[in-house]
Amino acid sequence: MDRLKNIVLIGFMGSGKSSVGKALSEQLNYQFKDTDDLIEADQDTSISNIFSIHGEEYFRHLETKLLLSIHDTLDKAVLSTGGGMPIREENMKLLASMGQVVYLKASQATIIDRLSGDTTRPLLKGETLKERVENLLLTRAPYYEKAADIIINTDGKSVDDIVKEILKTLKLAEQS
Ligand code: S3P
Repeated sequence: MDRLKNIVLIGFMGSGKSSVGKALSEQLNYQFKDTDDLIEADQDTSISNIFSIHGEEYFRHLETKLLLSIHDTLDKAVLSTGGGMPIREENMKLLASMGQVVYLKASQATIIDRLSGDTTRPLLKGETLKERVENLLLTRAPYYEKAADIIINTDGKSVDDIVKEILKTLKLAEQS
């Protein structure tokens, strides 16, 4: 596994990791993998069900287990990760060793806009969406920044624009 040949996308729920990841992988002719999809396929159930039956800690354990299982085989891949993935120290290290880590940063307003009406994400249940996003973003932002090799601001940008910016920034980083 060549770390430089994989790209890992991290960021808050609704920051566009899956849509950007798919477009980026097509552009590079890379494989696209999504940690949530892989966990759902492996467990043969939805993330929502995993949370409601086993709880969040169990899901976090599945995330680490998944990273360990794909770690050595990732080759020319774009890996989109669940929003909580880099919060565990162990995951942060694994992600760093798997590829160039790109943080897709989005403002609270953009995130709220994208997530309103979402019923698939267990962590958004309960409080109002605004409070939930505000609190989670506050605690998570430092982890995303720490885990990132590069940070791309996504507010107001199209998927194509974001893909172009990632490629341009990674090329420059490669040269320096
Ligand atoms: C989570 C984000 C979700 C999913 C799960 C938990 C989180 O993925 O992994 O619902 O902790 O932020 P997305 O970021 O793809 O929505």
